[in-house]
Amino acid sequence: MNCCVTGLQWGDEGKGKVVDILAETSDFVVRYNGGANAGHTVVIGDSKFALHLLPSGAVRQGVFCVIGNGVVIDPDCLIGEIDELAKRNISLDGRLFISENAHLVMDYHKLEDQLREDALGKNKIGTTIRGIGPCYADKILRSYALTVSDLLDSDALKAKLEQIVAVKNKTFTALYNAATLDAGKIFDKCTIYSKRLVPYAADTTELLHKAIADGKSILFEGAQGTLLDLDHGTFPFVTSSNSSSLGMPAGTGVPAKMVDKFIGVAKAYTTRVGAGPFPTELDNDIGQYIRQKGNEYGTTTGRPRRCGWFDAVAAAYSIKIGSIDSVALMHLDTLTGLKEIKVCTAYEIDGRRTRFFPSNRHKLSKAKCIYKTLEGWDEQIDDVSNFNSLPKLAKNYVLLLEELLEKPVTMIGIGPKRTQTLTR
Ligand code: IMP
Repeated sequence: MNCCVTGLQWGDEGKGKVVDILAETSDFVVRYNGGANAGHTVVIGDSKFALHLLPSGAVRQGVFCVIGNGVVIDPDCLIGEIDELAKRNISLDGRLFISENAHLVMDYHKLEDQLREDALGKNKIGTTIRGIGPCYADKILRSYALTVSDLLDSDALKAKLEQIVAVKNKTFTALYNAATLDAGKIFDKCTIYSKRLVPYAADTTELLHKAIADGKSILFEGAQGTLLDLDHGTFPFVTSSNSSSLGMPAGTGVPAKMVDKFIGVAKAYTTRVGAGPFPTELDNDIGQYIRQKGNEYGTTTGRPRRCGWFDAVAAAYSIKIGSIDSVALMHLDTLTGLKEIKVCTAYEIDGRRTRFFPSNRHKLSKAKCIYKTLEGWDEQIDDVSNFNSLPKLAKNYVLLLEELLEKPVTMIGIGPKRTQTLTR
C-alpha cells in the first residue's frame, strides 16, 4: 500500500510522529517538497531526533529513504543530519537516495532570504531564513540554479559558480549594499558536498517506479502544511513549494493515482509561525496555555508559535484539496484542563456565512469565526490505551471534528512518544 501524509494546517501538525509510526510497515519513505525549513521531531524511547531534511523514516534501520526532486537541499544541513544519525549508530549507507534533480540551497540563498526579510521590515513574511524562497526562485528562473547533478562535474560546476556569483554580487550590492561573495570559497565547500552527497545521488523517479512495480510500499511525507502551499495556501504568507499533497506527484515523478491512501494530519487546535491571517488565533491567556502545554515553539527556529482554536473550515478545505481519506488528530492531551473548547464551524465574511475557506486573502482577513463551544475535560489522557477509555467529553470533541470534517479520525495523539498514539 502506498500512502501520503500531509499537514492540514500551517505546518507543525505532528506529521513526523505519524510518518515514523507508518514507516514501520513501509519499505520507502519519501520527502517531496520543502527543505530545511521543516522540522520533524521524532521521539524514540528517551532519544529525541530533530530532522529537517531526512525523511522521518531515517531513524528506522530497515527503511529506504528518498529525497525527491521537489525538495531543496541545504548540503551542510543534510551532511550534519547524516553524521548525527551515524553518531547514534544509525547508518544511511545503501538506503538513502537523493534525487539528482533536487536543487541545492547555497549560503547565498540563506543570505538573500535574510536580506529580503530585513528590507521588507513590517511587511516581512516571517520566513525561517533557510534560503527556501530564493532557492526555489532560482529553480523557476533556471539559468543560475544548482542541482545535485551539478556536483557530479567539478569543472562545469566551477565555471557555473563563477557566473552565478558574479550576478549575485551585482544584485546583492545594488539592492542591499551587501558584502561580496567569493566564488572560490563557495566552490571549495562544494567539493566537500560532492564527496559526501554524490554517493547517495540517484534517479529517484526510476527507483520509485521500480519499487512500486516490485510491490514495495511507499510512504510519501509532506513538509509544512496545506495552508502554506504556494498555490493553495494563504499567499503570500506561504512557503515556496506545494506543501499540500498536490506537490507529491511533481516532487517525486510518481502520479497521485498510485497512492492508495492520503492521510491528513491536524492538531486538536491550530498553530501558525510567521506572519499572515489566522482567523481562530487566541492572542490571550488561553493561547498562552496551549503554547506552554503543547510546547509550541519552532523546531527549526525556536520561535513561539501563534496558537488558536481548531478551524474546521480551514481543515475541511485542506481535506478537499488533498483528497484526504482519513485524519490523524494530534496533541489532544494539550487541551486537557481547559474549561471550554471552541471549534470554528463557519466564517462570516461581509455579512455572509460560508463554510468554504476563501482563496482570496483579502476576504480571509475579514473572516469572523462562528464557533461551537464544548465543555472541556480535566482528566489526564496521556496514558489512555484506547479511544473508548478517553473521558466522554474528549470523545465528544473528536466525534464533533469527525462530523465537521466528514472524514474518520483514525489516529489520535495523546503525548509525544510513539506509544502515545491511539488508533481506531
Ligand atoms: P519559508 O518556508 O522559510 O520561506 O517560510 C515561509 C512561511 O512558512 C513562514 O511563515 C514560515 O514560518 C512558514 N514555515 C516554513 N516551514 C515551516 C514549518 O515546517 N512549519 C511551520 N511553518 C513553516
